[in-house]
Amino acid sequence: MSSTPSRVAIVTGGASGIGLAIATKFSQNGIFTVAIGRDEAKLAKAKEILGSNGTTIQADVADLASIPALVEKIHANYGRIDILVNNAGINQKKPFTEVTDEEFQRVINTNLTAVFVLSREVVKKMLAQGGGSIIHISSMTAYYGLPKVIAYSASKTAIEGITRAMATELSAQGIQVNAIAPGFIVTDMTDKALNADPERKAKAMGRTSIGYMGKPEDIAETAYFLVSPAAAYITGTSIRVDGGNAVGF
Ligand code: NAI
Repeated sequence: MSSTPSRVAIVTGGASGIGLAIATKFSQNGIFTVAIGRDEAKLAKAKEILGSNGTTIQADVADLASIPALVEKIHANYGRIDILVNNAGINQKKPFTEVTDEEFQRVINTNLTAVFVLSREVVKKMLAQGGGSIIHISSMTAYYGLPKVIAYSASKTAIEGITRAMATELSAQGIQVNAIAPGFIVTDMTDKALNADPERKAKAMGRTSIGYMGKPEDIAETAYFLVSPAAAYITGTSIRVDGGNAVGF
C-alpha cells in the first residue's frame, strides 16, 4: 500500500457469509477493507473478490493473546482504522444439559470475549485518531428464547449489552457503536443449523413476516448505512434486519 487509504475497515469472519458480503460492500464503495478469517481457501477467494481495495489476514480471533499484535500490524500497514465489524461467530446446537463447561466457554470466547478484546485494541487507535465506527453482529437469540443454543444465546444477548455500554462511554469521543441483529440469513451457519432440522426451519420461517430467508447482502446494506454520513446521529442501537422475524407470531 503506497499511500494511506481514506477509510480502513476490519471485518472479522470476513471470508464467508455475512462478513464477506459486508467486506465486499465496503471495498466496492471506497473503504479499504481487511477481512480476517481462519480458512485459507476461503480467504484466497475473498481476496480475489475484494480486489485492490481490500486484503485478507489469516488469524484466529479466539486466540485472545494475539489480538493486540494483530491490531498493531493492521494499523502499521494501513495507517488508520476507521471501522470495526465484529462479525466472526460460532454456534453450537446441543440440548441444555449436555453442554460442557468447555463448549460453553468456547462459544463465549469467540462470540463475546474476542469481541471485547478486539474492540478495546481498536478503540485505542480510534481515540488517538479522533473517532470511528464499530458494528457488532447480534442475533434473534438476543430478542427471544431459542432452545438448544444456550452459549450462543448468552453471547449474543451480551453483545446487545456491550453495544449500549460502549456507545455510552465512547460516543462523545467520536466513536459510534451499534449492532445489527440478523434474522435467518442464508449462510454456512444456517445451512448447518437449519437445513438439517426441517422442523426448526419451518418454525423460523413461520414467524418471518416477509416469508423467506434473508441474504448476506441485506446485512451488508445496513452495515454500509451505519458507517455512512446518513447514520451520523445513530449510536448505541441494534438494528434488526430480520424480515419481521422478531415481531412475528
Ligand atoms: P458463517 O459461518 O458463514 O461465517 C462466520 C465466519 O466467521 C466464518 O468465515 C468463520 O470461519 C469465521 N470465524 C469463526 N470463528 C472465527 C475465529 N475464531 N477467528 C476468525 N474467524 C472466525 O456464518 P454467518 O452466518 O455469516 O455468521 C456471521 C455472523 O452473523 C456470526 O456472528 C453469526 O452469529 C451472526 N448471525 C448469523 C445469522 C444467520 O442467519 N446466518 C443470524 C444471526 C446472527
